[in-house]
Amino acid sequence: MTAQYQVHGDVAVITLNNPPVNGLGLATRRAIVDGLERAQRDAAVKAIVITGAGAAFSGGADITEFGTDKALAEPNLHTVIAAAEQCAKPVVAAIHSVCMGGGLELALGCHYRIAAPGCSVALPEVKLGLLPGAGGTQRLPRVVGVEAALNMIVSGEPVKSELIAGVPGQKLFDRLAASPEALAAEALAFARSVANVRPLPLVRNLPCKHPQGDAYFQFARNMVKGMSKNFPAPAKCVDAVEAAAKHKKFDDGLKAERELFIQLMWSPESRALRHLFFAERAASKIPDVPADTPRRDIQAVAVIGAGTMGGGIAMNFLNAGIPVKMLEMKQEALDRGLATIRKNYEAQVKKGKLKADKYEQRMVLLSTTLDYADLKNADLVIEAVFEDLGVKEQVFRQLDAVMKPGAILASNTSTLDVNKIAAFTARPQDVVGLHFFSPANVMKLLEVVRGDETAKDVMATVMAVAKKIRKTAVVSGVCDGFIGNRMIEQYGRQGGFLLDEGCTPAQVDKAIEKFGFAMGPFRMGDLAGNDIGWAIRKRRAIERPGMKYSKTADLLCEQGRFGQKVGKGWYDYVPGRRDAIPNAEVEQMIAEHRQALGITPRTISDEEIVQRLVFSLVNEAAHILEEGIANKASDVDVVYIFGYGFPVHRGGPLNYANEVGLFNVVAAMRRFAQNPLDDAQFWQPAPLLSRLVAEGKQF
Ligand code: NAI
Repeated sequence: MTAQYQVHGDVAVITLNNPPVNGLGLATRRAIVDGLERAQRDAAVKAIVITGAGAAFSGGADITEFGTDKALAEPNLHTVIAAAEQCAKPVVAAIHSVCMGGGLELALGCHYRIAAPGCSVALPEVKLGLLPGAGGTQRLPRVVGVEAALNMIVSGEPVKSELIAGVPGQKLFDRLAASPEALAAEALAFARSVANVRPLPLVRNLPCKHPQGDAYFQFARNMVKGMSKNFPAPAKCVDAVEAAAKHKKFDDGLKAERELFIQLMWSPESRALRHLFFAERAASKIPDVPADTPRRDIQAVAVIGAGTMGGGIAMNFLNAGIPVKMLEMKQEALDRGLATIRKNYEAQVKKGKLKADKYEQRMVLLSTTLDYADLKNADLVIEAVFEDLGVKEQVFRQLDAVMKPGAILASNTSTLDVNKIAAFTARPQDVVGLHFFSPANVMKLLEVVRGDETAKDVMATVMAVAKKIRKTAVVSGVCDGFIGNRMIEQYGRQGGFLLDEGCTPAQVDKAIEKFGFAMGPFRMGDLAGNDIGWAIRKRRAIERPGMKYSKTADLLCEQGRFGQKVGKGWYDYVPGRRDAIPNAEVEQMIAEHRQALGITPRTISDEEIVQRLVFSLVNEAAHILEEGIANKASDVDVVYIFGYGFPVHRGGPLNYANEVGLFNVVAAMRRFAQNPLDDAQFWQPAPLLSRLVAEGKQF
């Protein structure tokens, strides 16, 4: 049952009941229309209240229907809203908790609205690259004014009901209930009080104007353009609200809204956002670890190593109210780590992002030690010491000796073999990789590395912990680099070959930044530290001899150009300037290297740069999927969006490959394989990719 129908004296109450947020799925929509008809037929009923059971009035469209026939099946949302509008008896929406998207559009189609305080009201469609397509852009400006409506529609952000109710002249709410608890009774009384009003008030009959007219919309359009460069939806929201103000007939505005909605629905940007919306939710599900898998209790956390990563990792838990004990080998290292955490929090306080008392509460949760014995009460320990298997071994042997049974032992290693690390203990089932990204207190991605023996309840627990500390977790199997860094190796190699063949670092960076990456490979190297990649390449040269690299990055490191931390890398960095300044000596070094190899430089197009960088990610991802390192293609996209600055509007490397067409992707790979300066072997399309093309399928 997705909605209940009850009669209280002379008022019929339709209660939406489709947990968790009363999404307006087909069955619920049908129940609303049926309820309205039934109430009209019943002569004893004088008025109707529509409300929601549980924790929402309605959160809007039912996301499980997205992309299915059910989403548009009759009665669709337009039909439901028309049924409320045209109902011969007064229909009152009794709103509480959450009233968003289609839920708000439904409420706006009712004759009256009464709201409980504390209700979050929003039209969030823009976040999926859409606009409210069931009259929201036409009705909201009529009740809260053009400007307030446009702000809500363009931002998608929720506004509290009491705030709206306090705005003079607003017509969104006819009443604000005294409290959420009082809403039901007040809604009944209100419905009775308007039972005989005729004609019934309709939002569509209210005027819609901005005092500055066209000039305002031009201003709004300029504002929105600057803020949403890669996304068409915000500008179309302005167009839709403008249509509400321009058209004399309400239904003409509605038609304009419909057309704009359909244009957005078919835009690659909206497809990318909708893909990511589901991808992020799907990432938390592990095929063989059901949702009801028992979890271990995590009350206290320990972090080993108070360096760059350890400090940031600790902050995540402090922010979530979980006590953290940090261990280092020397007091100075602890002091340094603590000072960095304080500095980070103080910067947040200064910017007004964190209240001073909250800062103190967090610091109280943090303690430090030099003694492993002090860690024995922790339920989860995360190691973030040097990236060296020997050092990891020392740490894990000590942890195995002191940690209580059942404690989870995690490593933040970015490339090392988690199975080997697990084997340093007598409890490999309790060992897991928790790969945070730098800065660990900011970046949303967490790669959860599942060892061969990692227990299912450990997986279930760390996925829940990730949620608690507001990370987007993606599960990866064990391999060199896991999902993200294994793919970035190929991307980095292509960057190197492009230098050998004739590009400058700035040319490569600019091309991929124009594509939408936050930062090109060379600026990223300078930020992360070129010495880190150097050390990894040295290790890989031993473990995987024969892998072809450009030598340019090693030459750069031999000159001590490690990146931003030393003021010079691929670029120069000057105090007080945030930009990367191209360096003539680096370019000379690349040119000399080219000469030594006997390469005549050629002009390389931005298109080739982008394709080689992005398709290298795609091909490696196809291997990763085939090997079962990643559970599903959308996980790869989540990793790249939340951890590597891949452009959001392109939906991740595999979504992008689908958009380009896998046939075209493979054709480009075959072209790249012809280039003697590239790696022909690498560009052989991964078997999975070839299969998908042969079968006409997508990732
Ligand atoms: P870091 O050098 O900034 O910090 C390492 C800390 O560990 C130092 O403070 C050191 O004193 C301490 N330490 C070393 N041996 C220890 C021991 N036996 N017992 C206790 N403390 C010890 O290094 P960073 O960058 O924080 O990296 C740590 C780990 O995180 C590495 O495994 C690295 O691969 C991984 N990682 C690093 C990322 C980055 O961007 N820096 C990103 C993701 C993972």
